[in-house]
Amino acid sequence: MNIDDVILQHLYDNIGNFVPGVEMCREAEVSRIAIWNRIKGLKKRGFNIESKKGVGYKLVEKGKNILIPFEIRNKLFTDVIGKRIEYYRFTSSTMDEADNLIKAGCSQGTVVIADEQYRGRGRRGKEWFSPRGNNIYLSVILFPEYLSMECGILIMFMGSIAIVKALSDYGIDAKIKWPNDCMVDGKKIGGVLMETTSEGEFIKNVVLGFGININQDEFPHSLENIGISAAAKAKHEIDRVDVITRLLYYLEELYLPLAKGGKGKILDLWKGYSDTIGRKVVVDAGNRVIEGEAKDIDGCGFLLVETNRVLEKITCRESLRYI
Ligand code: BTN
Repeated sequence: MNIDDVILQHLYDNIGNFVPGVEMCREAEVSRIAIWNRIKGLKKRGFNIESKKGVGYKLVEKGKNILIPFEIRNKLFTDVIGKRIEYYRFTSSTMDEADNLIKAGCSQGTVVIADEQYRGRGRRGKEWFSPRGNNIYLSVILFPEYLSMECGILIMFMGSIAIVKALSDYGIDAKIKWPNDCMVDGKKIGGVLMETTSEGEFIKNVVLGFGININQDEFPHSLENIGISAAAKAKHEIDRVDVITRLLYYLEELYLPLAKGGKGKILDLWKGYSDTIGRKVVVDAGNRVIEGEAKDIDGCGFLLVETNRVLEKITCRESLRYI
């Protein structure tokens, strides 16, 4: 546990009562000054902490909707994903932090969470709106053993299925627009970004990034009729920690069979949640535009669009809209 975690664990275990600073010093193996400096940082993050000279520190009440890694860890019921959680109050992108962790030799299932991103990125080079405190910005590091590059799209499907399942626990009926946009009432509630490195024909490392709008009540003008949050749909505030624990649980449930080479139920689940199959679509395929009906997905997750009785295979690099 890092120093903040040690402090928070003590304060939470004794919420409403003073805890002597010396207990925290002992466990974190740092000086009183170091604890005091961390307490100042926690207050800035929104924790309502009182200090009394010679007595210690007291958490007056739990801050509203604050993300605390140990709280997530304590609530997790996964075996692999989330055993290590790295939290950042703000960062450029959790994808960047995940890359650094891979280079440093982290283990599979490591999760990176941020409260704010100043260069959050989406698919196809788009920016991902990542203001402070309301939403989920999270990346998961995975090392699948037997997954070919060709079928990498299944990992992305798995991510969007996990989002849809987590949201359905709050009565929110989200659908997936190919390949991985999670939509509610025709507006985007979340998305998945996958960045991979390969070795030969197999995927070596995957960073799977999740952006989910949770308690965002206002969107910038450019996203006004495009984005929606879980709280806006459910008509009440939603606990981000709770959504994260569900998301990671559903992700692991899908990932463990897939990592061993079995495509499992991912294709069928994706089809069940998708609102793309059967729709008339236009696909911008770079050098040409394909217009037709989305008929199905193939065994590796490519979208099959029928145009003039020919089935065209659409990759996830191409952009699609409904007509
Ligand atoms: C999409 O375009 O639909 C994918 C959006 C993915 C956004 C998430 S937020 C956490 C992670 N960090 C990023 O910079 N992007 C992903």
